[in-house]
Amino acid sequence: MNNVGLITGASSGIGLELAKIHASKGRDLVLVARREDELLKLKTELELTHNIQVVVIPMDLMKENAAHELFASVKNLKIEVEYLFNNAGLGGYGKFHLRDWKKEREMIQLNIIALTELTHLFLPEMIKRKFGKILNTASTAGFMPGPMQTVYFATKAFVVSFTQGVAQEVCNEGITLTALCPGPVQTEFEKAAGMEGSGLFKSAVSAESTARKGYKAMEKGKLIAISNNTLNFAINWILPLFPRKIILKMVQNLQTIK
Ligand SMILES: NC(=O)c1ccc[n+]([C@@H]2O[C@H](COP(=O)([O-])OP(=O)(O)OC[C@H]3O[C@@H](n4cnc5c(N)ncnc54)[C@H](OP(=O)(O)O)[C@@H]3O)[C@@H](O)[C@H]2O)c1
Repeated sequence: MNNVGLITGASSGIGLELAKIHASKGRDLVLVARREDELLKLKTELELTHNIQVVVIPMDLMKENAAHELFASVKNLKIEVEYLFNNAGLGGYGKFHLRDWKKEREMIQLNIIALTELTHLFLPEMIKRKFGKILNTASTAGFMPGPMQTVYFATKAFVVSFTQGVAQEVCNEGITLTALCPGPVQTEFEKAAGMEGSGLFKSAVSAESTARKGYKAMEKGKLIAISNNTLNFAINWILPLFPRKIILKMVQNLQTIK
């Protein structure tokens, strides 16, 4: 297999679109998510359309040893991963103290632990080869606290920080890390997070345009890709001017389901 990209969360939304872009460049793929049937459908489509090889590894990345199991499967198949897309993630709506702890823990496992561990496992071999590109799907949620989705926003703040820190450590090794930071996107995320009706997704953009922006930024080796120009301006130039308590109220109002 050549120029292999491993994508977590490839069965829908942004991950699926990243897979299509990677395949369109004639690059091979390892697709990971829980829904094997969706991954197999995508494998058939991409292999037929782009004459590439696609391997499907169904995996629940909320399980504690999932990252190690995934890495071991890839090694057993003698696949060299050159592009790592840590994209799988999910949100969860509600006041922190009222939310089920098991769900918060699983979210941290998926959004933080799996992403961090996969990076830790795949990075050394990328450094040895002097080539590797990692795209971590974070969120604009990573730039502010997020009442009503507090743990989700905090996990994405981790991803934004982690991505930049490691990027600096390996910048002379031929490796780049990029954090893709979308605002609201039309995917299955809204439903999975229990946020239907919050109003936040009225301005949602397409998963295809979001993935395109992220893929391009990854290829250029950019640190951060905020997928929407207005949000980019607001986060960099307006947000820092606002008092923290005002921001907290604004974010809570935006997210609250009325
Ligand atoms: N949509 C937005 O508004 C938005 C905004 C900013 C950032 N993001 C981020 O974008 C990323 C992709 O989300 P999306 O918007 O494309 O939503 P999505 O359509 O719900 O896709 C989520 C993907 O993650 C996979 N996944 C979920 N739980 C998993 C698990 N336990 N193990 C393995 N895979 C799992 C899902 O596949 P299975 O269900 O088959 O496992 C699916 O392929 C996430 O990190 C999300 O936080 C989304």
